[in-house]
Amino acid sequence: MFGRDEQAKIGSVPPQQRQEILAGLNLDLSWEYAAMIQYIQHAAVLTGPEYTQVIEEELEHARDEHEHAVILADLINYLGGTPTVGVAERLTSEDNVEMLRQDLQAEYDAIARYLERIAQLESAGQYDSAQKIRNIVLVEQNHAINLEKALGIRRKSVAARM
Ligand SMILES: [Fe+2]
Ligand SMILES: [Fe+2]
Repeated sequence: MFGRDEQAKIGSVPPQQRQEILAGLNLDLSWEYAAMIQYIQHAAVLTGPEYTQVIEEELEHARDEHEHAVILADLINYLGGTPTVGVAERLTSEDNVEMLRQDLQAEYDAIARYLERIAQLESAGQYDSAQKIRNIVLVEQNHAINLEKALGIRRKSVAARM
């Protein structure tokens, strides 16, 4: 339950803007469910001695995505929407490296979606909700960093490009 002041604040967001935000958050939620499933499946089928550490990280990521799904579902409910039970696309492969690439792309996509969501929430004056998404996107960035390292991706330094 929340007080009258908070209800008034949420109610002050124009209906169309609120619908757009809720649709976006439900999209994010469906991708969090998908990411959790994908990580669990990949952790189970990744194989080879060089992947022992990566498998542990994938399981850690799965737990983080579960936590994100719970935060999003509560946030959607708080903002007056109904959390989806829909699950977005899950990918897998028989190739270890391809699975890690799929996971990394999903993290890049999640980061892009969350940055858009933060902008939407802030433009609606929902700074508290935007902060929750900021906390999530920081974790996604760390997931992306872990996967880039596992894949041996080196980012060129700025100095090297000059
Ligand atoms: Fe997540
Ligand atoms: Fe993630």
